[in-house]
Amino acid sequence: MTLAPLDPTQRLLRACRGEPVDRPPVWLMRQAGRYLPEYRAVRGDIPFLDFCGDVEKAVEVSLQPLRRVGTEAVIVFSDIFVPVPGMGVEIDFAPGPVVAVPIRSRAQIEALRVPDPRESVPFVFEILRTLRRELEGARVPLLGFAGAPFTLAAYLVEGRSSSDFPVLRRMIAEEPALLRALLAKLTELVVAHLDAQVEAGAQVVQLFDTWAGLLSPELYREWVLPAHREIAAKLPRAKAPLVLYLRQSAHLLDLVLESGADVISLDWRVDLAEAARRAAGRASLQGNLDPGLLFAPPELIAERVREVVVSARGARGHVLNLGHGVLPGTPVEGVCAFTEAVRAFGDLER
Ligand code: CP3
Repeated sequence: MTLAPLDPTQRLLRACRGEPVDRPPVWLMRQAGRYLPEYRAVRGDIPFLDFCGDVEKAVEVSLQPLRRVGTEAVIVFSDIFVPVPGMGVEIDFAPGPVVAVPIRSRAQIEALRVPDPRESVPFVFEILRTLRRELEGARVPLLGFAGAPFTLAAYLVEGRSSSDFPVLRRMIAEEPALLRALLAKLTELVVAHLDAQVEAGAQVVQLFDTWAGLLSPELYREWVLPAHREIAAKLPRAKAPLVLYLRQSAHLLDLVLESGADVISLDWRVDLAEAARRAAGRASLQGNLDPGLLFAPPELIAERVREVVVSARGARGHVLNLGHGVLPGTPVEGVCAFTEAVRAFGDLER
């Protein structure tokens, strides 16, 4: 079937909903960031959370990858921790998030507020409204995002990043009621934050559950799936489709498909053809090139993009992306080769 060329917003929305497209849309997680010299120039040495709150600078770095690397969507520049200080938690970046006093007691959890993000972080919505005005003419879609409750809780309980989050996993076993109370507050925060982003102009929203893949299927079903389902059910998905990202989650795919998300974003360890079979029309897929491959020569990147696109053919829709964020130090040419490859692919197909 030949389709009239779509504009980038139509292409992304249609792919998310599983409607026919001329070729997959493309964007990259962490497409704004330290691999771009112009990002480093604007960032300077401003503390990271202050930088996220500077509307003019955040708008500028959100738009940088559009001009420079040929991405076809803009994700608002922010961080999953931006709405967290408003709950009453002190967070620093060094460069990863560090929680001044890790949240481990009933009293601390009870003291957490769930603010209206429109009041606690009004700048996020100002950045989104400004971006939407900037992007309207070229019909480039705008994405919002939030960290998922489990991933936010992982950092809040552990206090910092970890490869296996031992304190969090001990809390699951020893004090399940505490963790449940924390997850309930975070779920409320995440729903409000994503909802307000859609209201401010986000056309797609992505939920990052980077660490949910730590869990077995049984624990995922008990500890994470209910929050994913609640978030999917409460968001206005007819207005803005929901993308759900999990890292290291091949073993969870069948359960993640029960979340109700419109798109499941997978890392590079997952076979997309197999994932497409399992999804069987229930969700579109996003991903999943290994970010490390962007260090390869352009011809190899193009070949791998073709493989990814072909392997996703059985899915009801596919959004080309990486399997995780762009790594610091990635050559800009590698990122350009990635976005170029899918455009060339579209021409070949027609
Ligand atoms: O994708 C984008 O371009 C939008 C911006 C974005 C950032 N963080 C900016 C950022 C997004 C979507 C995130 C999500 C995020 N942040 C996640 C989920 C996805 C993932 O990567 O797993 C997580 C776990 C965080 C928490 C976080 N923020 C960490 C662990 C770090 C430090 C490590 C690192 O990669 O730098 C950050 C800081 C951060 N967030 C930077 C950027 C551009 C680097 C800050 C800098 O030094 O300039």
